[in-house]
Amino acid sequence: MIILGLHKDPWHDSGAAMIREDADGIRIASLSEERANREKDSRRFPHLSLKACMDELGVSSTEEIDLVVLDYIVRPSWRDDWYRRPCETRHFLSGIDPKKIRIINHHLAHACNVFYSSGFEAAAILIVDGRGSEKETQSLFVAKEGRIEVIESTTVIGIGLLYAAVTQAIGFGLLQEGKTMGLAPYGAEVKKQIFHFPRRFSGVTTDYSSVCLEDSYEMGVRHAPIITFEDKARAAFEVQAEAEAALLHLARHAFERTSAERLCISGGVALNSVANYEVLRAGIFKDIFINPAASDTGIPLGAALYGYHAILQRPRSYDRISTYLGPSYSGERITRAIDAFRQSTFNQEASAGFSVVNHDALELAVEMLVQNKIVGCFHGRSEMGPRALGNRSILMSPLLAENKDILNRDVKHREAFRPFAPAVLEERTQEYFEIDRPSPYMLLVPPVREEKRNRIPAVTHVDGTGRLQTVARMSNPHFYSLIEKFQQKTGVPVLLNTSFNVANEPIVETPEDAIRCFLGTGIDALLIGDYLLVKETKRDPA
Ligand SMILES: [Fe+2]
Repeated sequence: MIILGLHKDPWHDSGAAMIREDADGIRIASLSEERANREKDSRRFPHLSLKACMDELGVSSTEEIDLVVLDYIVRPSWRDDWYRRPCETRHFLSGIDPKKIRIINHHLAHACNVFYSSGFEAAAILIVDGRGSEKETQSLFVAKEGRIEVIESTTVIGIGLLYAAVTQAIGFGLLQEGKTMGLAPYGAEVKKQIFHFPRRFSGVTTDYSSVCLEDSYEMGVRHAPIITFEDKARAAFEVQAEAEAALLHLARHAFERTSAERLCISGGVALNSVANYEVLRAGIFKDIFINPAASDTGIPLGAALYGYHAILQRPRSYDRISTYLGPSYSGERITRAIDAFRQSTFNQEASAGFSVVNHDALELAVEMLVQNKIVGCFHGRSEMGPRALGNRSILMSPLLAENKDILNRDVKHREAFRPFAPAVLEERTQEYFEIDRPSPYMLLVPPVREEKRNRIPAVTHVDGTGRLQTVARMSNPHFYSLIEKFQQKTGVPVLLNTSFNVANEPIVETPEDAIRCFLGTGIDALLIGDYLLVKETKRDPA
């Protein structure tokens, strides 16, 4: 049985996911189109990601697919599902028997993705994003006994659209809400008030329709000018406080309506890891789960899971779903990529080339991290969603505060205020962070323990917090081993982990992408397959 899930053009974050059920169980693959076509937040029909999923699961023709499930945004007819620009979908789906195609609600796809990935038996599910299929902004679902049902939903402009509008007012682009979240703590001490938000919370509605323009991502009211860094930081601080209040209200409401012991949160707003931590800290639920592909990057998998469990009525045969669902790359493919770049004259100005170490590569990579070098890490299948979790990561020592600036200047080319995340050995978490449970996807931001802040300054944000990734040996033995060896040499079980890309580019996907990024930036070494590639020129300290 083969099920294809799609989130298609012309909506952002298009992609494909596939579930293949054989006699020995199920296998899953998922990829966002941006990773394959190298166009950030791509809106193209997911041709390349679909092909990648088929290759990964050994499917040679689309005729083998038993069921296609996709979400809709404007109209439940997939051929007409567009608003400003037409979709390219017609061509692909016209070759598929229409009886095999099912169209589902966008928020339902988010809900399936987060719940089936959670491992929970039952839960309340909050979906909070920009807009869904029927213009929903916020929805509450309940999942029990294998069924997921919507119990409440609103189309009133909510916290997702407000956050996007303020992000635009600050001067960042669409889908750059993460920058606003990183900037927010810098506005805590600024005296000037920028906005006056009406705090009208009722049920699943957090109503910002009086301050936002309809069908737009812009503020609809006058506000104090946003010109200086302090102004921008203050604006970010105010909307972040609003996001935390709104999400807390929604979580309390979800508990009142469902009496569930556990909560799942998804939709773009669930990437607000600071607000998520506030929900956890409030103790309303015994446990909460946020999936790493909480943005629309998780829709393809959600759609495929709906097909598998709700349409085909297959029971759940797994606990949690791994986040490492991208295509695999063989050792031979990696060797070929290295050879191709060794023979090229690629970007000679950035690097005079690289040497290849093919024994004890991991040990040497750790040694370089201890020497405060920047090490790219390409390993196994890529992670879903917008955060790199060890398989497509750039790593550095967390021990020196200036590493933040070094990375921003030499590699990431991004704003200096944006924080870098700590990855910690799971069993050492509580020594360093004020949290009592794992945070495997960087979706919770607890305080760094006060006595440890000077020990790991490169991953401690200005307000004393860290966007935490806890790493368990079982879930990623390779990444665990890197941190463990770093700990053996330094005493600190933490590495700085940032995504393997430069600003405004998708995270690297293939070995070729990784080597190209390594050569074009100030990364000192690249751990890839069984090799460590080491730049022959030193990083310019200027
Ligand atoms: Fe969404």
